[in-house]
Amino acid sequence: MSLERLQKVLARVGYGSRRACEELIAAGRVTVNGEVAALGRQVDTATDRVTVDGVPVGVLPGLVYYLLNKPAGVVTTASDPQGRRTVLDLVPDEPRVFPVGRLDAATEGLILLTNDGDLAQRVSHPSHGVDKEYLAEVAGVPSPGDIRRLRDGIDLEDGRTAPAKVSAVAPNLLRITIHEGRNHQVRRMLEATGHPVVRLVRTRIGTVTDRTLRPGSWRELGPSEVLELSKAASRRPRTTRRRDTRAARAASPPPRPSQ
Ligand code: URA
Repeated sequence: MSLERLQKVLARVGYGSRRACEELIAAGRVTVNGEVAALGRQVDTATDRVTVDGVPVGVLPGLVYYLLNKPAGVVTTASDPQGRRTVLDLVPDEPRVFPVGRLDAATEGLILLTNDGDLAQRVSHPSHGVDKEYLAEVAGVPSPGDIRRLRDGIDLEDGRTAPAKVSAVAPNLLRITIHEGRNHQVRRMLEATGHPVVRLVRTRIGTVTDRTLRPGSWRELGPSEVLELSKAASRRPRTTRRRDTRAARAASPPPRPSQ
């Protein structure tokens, strides 16, 4: 068992000074195992579940979060029968980490690797709606109608895609943001418009981005980056949000326009 004072643990993972963390606790914003924590509380970082403002906090010492700029040709799986380099070959061996979600071998750009299973699960789960942004160079020039189709949702063999954010950066270069993460999703969406991908680069994962990280390089996320990502991955599922909005509208119809 590794007991530590709650304010010390929160300060370590980026919630500010110990004094600031004491204030968070005193304000009733911190829970341990579902109960509002009292000042002076000790936690077992191996087993206790801590949240701040409802956002789960990874408190285990030794959690690491790497941001890697994956080059084309490197695979996301742990080992490759064809002997290609894997993302694990590009980051330190210890502690052991795993990739959060996957990028196709041909896709370049940002991918997270961590040993924080809880955050990894929340970031990669489509319902939390963590946006993933891509730059896609495509064959030909998509028309405004093609871009509208991508925005509205495209019928693929595994169902219609959720609306995407799409803008043209150049005639054959689209910035496209999705949150579902189905297999080969961006490639299949663009293929369906008749403009197959020539080059695909992931440029943002939720709140995390980095224009200076060179292909093949990695860096650790800072505590505030982990925190912001964790918040983004704790938002209520989009479908629930949409249903809630409809329910709220039905419960209280809009006021009549005044005469
Ligand atoms: N969409 C794709 O088609 N490929 C990726 O690697 C990521 C998103």
